[in-house]
Amino acid sequence: MIWKKQQGLLLGWLGILLQLVVLTECAIRRQRIQKKNNTDAASFPSVRLHILDEYVVVHNGLVNVTLSNPGGMITGIQYNGIDNLLENDYKENNRGYWDVVWSKPEHPGDIYDKLEGTSLHVIKEDENQVELSFLKPWTSSNNVLPLNIDKRFIMLRGSTGFYSYAVFERLEGWPDINLSQGRMAFKLKPKLFQFMAVSDERQRIMPTSQDRERGQILDYPEAVLLTDPENSFLRGEVDDKYQYSSDNKDCQVHGWISTNPPSGFWIITPSNEFKTAGPVKQDLTSHAGPIALSMFFSTHYAGSPLIINFRDGEPWKKVFGPVFIYLNSVSEDDDPLTLWADAKEQMLIETQSWPYNFPMSKDYPYAEKRGIIAGRLLVRDSHINQRLISARAAYIGLALPGDTGSWQRENKGYQFWTQADDRGYFVIKGVRVGKYSLYAWVPGFIGDYKYNAYINVRPGNTIRLYNLVYDPPRNGPTLWEIGIPDRTAAEYFVPDPNPTLMNQLYVNHAEKYRQYGLWDRYTELYPEQDLVYKVGVSNYQIDWYFAQVNRK
Ligand SMILES: *[C@@H]1O[C@H](CO)[C@@H](O)[C@H](O)[C@H]1NC(C)=O
Ligand SMILES: *[C@@H]1O[C@H](CO)[C@@H](O)[C@H](O)[C@H]1NC(C)=O
Ligand SMILES: *[C@@H]1O[C@H](CO)[C@@H](O)[C@H](O)[C@H]1NC(C)=O
Repeated sequence: MIWKKQQGLLLGWLGILLQLVVLTECAIRRQRIQKKNNTDAASFPSVRLHILDEYVVVHNGLVNVTLSNPGGMITGIQYNGIDNLLENDYKENNRGYWDVVWSKPEHPGDIYDKLEGTSLHVIKEDENQVELSFLKPWTSSNNVLPLNIDKRFIMLRGSTGFYSYAVFERLEGWPDINLSQGRMAFKLKPKLFQFMAVSDERQRIMPTSQDRERGQILDYPEAVLLTDPENSFLRGEVDDKYQYSSDNKDCQVHGWISTNPPSGFWIITPSNEFKTAGPVKQDLTSHAGPIALSMFFSTHYAGSPLIINFRDGEPWKKVFGPVFIYLNSVSEDDDPLTLWADAKEQMLIETQSWPYNFPMSKDYPYAEKRGIIAGRLLVRDSHINQRLISARAAYIGLALPGDTGSWQRENKGYQFWTQADDRGYFVIKGVRVGKYSLYAWVPGFIGDYKYNAYINVRPGNTIRLYNLVYDPPRNGPTLWEIGIPDRTAAEYFVPDPNPTLMNQLYVNHAEKYRQYGLWDRYTELYPEQDLVYKVGVSNYQIDWYFAQVNRK
């Protein structure tokens, strides 16, 4: 699915496109080899665990990970001869960690919690796998986040990296809360990690935190004009972490490259089942610091509708992750940018291995405990075609039961999405047991689809739904239309940024709309009155502004 989208964006850039196709094919080939060869891991050293007073070290001959005991904060990651990929200058609880932003509904003000564990439990320890659990149970104390937290870390034999996931739980009757953000954060060594890659088209040398501190803050603190960066070619650029956001559906791998020694640090998200608000919810990825984030839920780009509210003692339990922290390296003679291509290959291996068959939590079901939904979606729109139309490339998903379109705000359950093929056929595999509604939208057609019955997913079952028909809202023939109903505004007019406030990455870029300050360009283009669009005369690619913004 991700490749389809990227190829779409690159249409016309034939050279790059060909390269991408070749890369993808290599990835698939390599993946087949790895899948066939399960004896591979046995040729590597065993995974080992050392429990010390204040630390616990897990290593497998390739990577050493040190965590605080019993806090479960990642204090060190040794790899490729580097003593720590994380920044030693930061406090030990400020290098690699889970955190949550929450509030008491009746008390304005966010409370920030780093989910420090209070006890360590070794869940599994053998030559092939070590899994650790750091528990932070709720203590009924008033100012403590009323959640039981179980943070897990897994290292496998022969694997250059580690997995992490967490189980969040509240029992019936616990105090009301608002949860507004949950994530993992990694603060990497600035001396090493200067090149960031978020997608094929979004990669660059990044400014440092010091460059930002010496810069000029723009309309909000996250946006900084780099007035005096160490790397002089960054001078005059705008840096803003929001410029590197991605849709959930496009955020399966992102991270950083060190050129010396050539090493990569990647966050691989093998599934979006635990993310909130569906495939087109955007969130942060990596940004200047250097920082790499795994965002599980947040209010970014949506605001308070995405605050997870618990009222009247509502119970809840959800597993976030596992995500894979993948490390890679090449020799000094190789191009460090190949680390990105390798990270994408690893991403394919991880996504195709989902659901994983090794996490030990009873709350994480393996494939055989999950179900499958297969079917076909058609569109009935007699003003376009007398016959049913295939819902080509439709997005189809399961989310908690709700109204049509409610998946966009749904934030407590699991969601399972796929994209239909050209004929509208779809298969959603690895669905957790439960009761869902089936939702969809079809690029090119307005509105939202919802199947009129609940879907009850049972372990190992396949549900087949081959005659789904979507009737898009319509009162008669189309008289005129501005743009394409596809949940992006990219086809409209996106202005050039103010030349003194640019991010060079987005010059001549498909995601030009990510430039800073475009909201102010509207006033400059239309100083006296709002734009006027003449139906039949105007062209939406030139005459319709991509966003609805204020005119000063
Ligand atoms: C499997 O891995 C072993 C050890 O790394 C290797 O010797 C063997 O050639 C591999 N087999 C295949 C089919 O790739
Ligand atoms: C990893 O940790 C073990 C145990 O502390 C140590 O013996 C080994 O040298 C470490 N490896 C690296 C690469 O630092
Ligand atoms: C809690 O969430 C509700 C609903 O989203 C919101 O109206 C309220 O302002 C939030 N309270 C705090 C303290 O954030």
